[in-house]
Amino acid sequence: MKKEIFFKEFREEHREIRDLLFDMITSFGAHDFEKSGALLERLDVLTGPHFRYEEEALYPALIQVYGEQYINKLLTDHDLAIARAKKLSSMIGAASKEKDDITDCINTVRSILPHVSDCEGLSIMVEKFDDGIVDSICKSMEEARAANLPLIKWSETARARKPLQIT
Ligand SMILES: [Fe+2]
Repeated sequence: MKKEIFFKEFREEHREIRDLLFDMITSFGAHDFEKSGALLERLDVLTGPHFRYEEEALYPALIQVYGEQYINKLLTDHDLAIARAKKLSSMIGAASKEKDDITDCINTVRSILPHVSDCEGLSIMVEKFDDGIVDSICKSMEEARAANLPLIKWSETARARKPLQIT
């Protein structure tokens, strides 16, 4: 995969994640839990391989730029996004939904958004990488896509970090 193709696909994935989150805010606002559930499923499928190659190749490669502390922050953002996706899934599945629950769902979706823009911004640093490092990130992207584990399944089976619980 050429460097330009990686940047294009990396950005396209973030655009799709952003749009799914925007659409979820709208569907929760319309009390449409069926649509919210379908959007969450698509998010699960899309972010599984995306988070995986980021954690297995992109983030480790960025330690030389940012140092360990900021990379840990990015990993914690992923921990939180996974926990929030699980929370949304259980809230969508719950029988009764009060007005406060809808506000909670919308705020939970919103709380994932800053990581999308933070993550997209990493590409400006990746531009400075040697082709070999970008090639290894692309290889990891292709492997994660081939394994095709959705986010929750990956976090429960193949992810190195322990799941975080939130309420
Ligand atoms: Fe990302």
